[in-house]
Amino acid sequence: MDWMTQASTSAAKSDAVFFYTFGLSLAFLIFITALMIYFVVRYNKKRHPKAEQIEGHVGLEILWTSVPLVLFLTIFYYGWTNFEYMRQAPRDAMGVKVTARQWSWAFEYPNGKKSKVLFAPIGRPMKLEVRSADVVHGFFVPSFRLKIDAVPSHANTTWFEPTRLGSYDIQCTVICGVDHALMLSKVIVVPEDEFKTWYFGGEDAPEPGKSLRAEAHPDLPKKPMGEELLRVKGCLACHSVDGKPMVGPTLKGLYGKQQEVITQGQTRTITVNEAYLREAIEQPGQTIVKGYPPAMPVMPMREQEVKDAVDYIKTLK
Ligand code: HEC
Repeated sequence: MDWMTQASTSAAKSDAVFFYTFGLSLAFLIFITALMIYFVVRYNKKRHPKAEQIEGHVGLEILWTSVPLVLFLTIFYYGWTNFEYMRQAPRDAMGVKVTARQWSWAFEYPNGKKSKVLFAPIGRPMKLEVRSADVVHGFFVPSFRLKIDAVPSHANTTWFEPTRLGSYDIQCTVICGVDHALMLSKVIVVPEDEFKTWYFGGEDAPEPGKSLRAEAHPDLPKKPMGEELLRVKGCLACHSVDGKPMVGPTLKGLYGKQQEVITQGQTRTITVNEAYLREAIEQPGQTIVKGYPPAMPVMPMREQEVKDAVDYIKTLK
């Protein structure tokens, strides 16, 4: 039955250990409770008006020491071997670089292909090198029971082998800033041939109607490149492109607008042109939009990216 198969091999292993420990605990809870009730009835005051001293019983003591000891060792052994399994990626695993940043996930494949969601072929191991570009984040795929810290300047590795088609949530487990809760992505598990088509294919939009692929590339079908750039750079965490003010002013209708700004304490009104946009992006502290906090960070961007961003903002009428 499909709903009973776990979504990855490590999920199956992790669940097996969990249910083994849980089952043992439950059995002992019932056993000990039953024994307590039995003793309360058996040795109550009516039947035994006079207390008597009961000496130890060596056989019993050996029994109740050795049985739990063996049981605990099985828990340890089971947990340890499965932990080992989850730590050691198979040699043929495909290596994918995972980068966490405020507030998004980015995935880069061995051939340089980049994606906002983790596209994975079913039945194939995938090794993840998880890093952070800024603060500490946590990479978590609950359905795979997969969790690892994403820290700056050091790659933590983990791996998984999906065993069920579908799309699974990726969450951040570390409170990493205002939009921590929105730092979501997905693992999309597809048949291997479909994965290959995507992996070796161009940046083409997915065929409409193919739900998995459409979900894997929500932004591919004709979303302008500029918006994708702003999303990847994290700009959209603070700026909307549809007119809503967020942490920063909306970028919609910005070009050509009369804007009240403050430069070194002086308020003036300017007309937003290319030079202004460029300065706003490259030196955010210089000129502040009136009514907004000077909260925009300096974002490391290449010359071409700044140009693309400016060009894109100009199109937002
Ligand atoms: C942490 C939030 C934050 C991020 C991330 C951010 N900005 Fe801003 N941005 C602001 C705030 C706040 C302002 C208004 C204050 C100011 O002018 O510095 C602003 C102002 C601007 C302005 C001037 C807007 C106007 O109305 O004149 C532009 C253009 C802009 N940002 C572009 C970008 C771009 C492009 C990126 C991504 C590379 C980006 N911002 C990332 C917060 C942010």
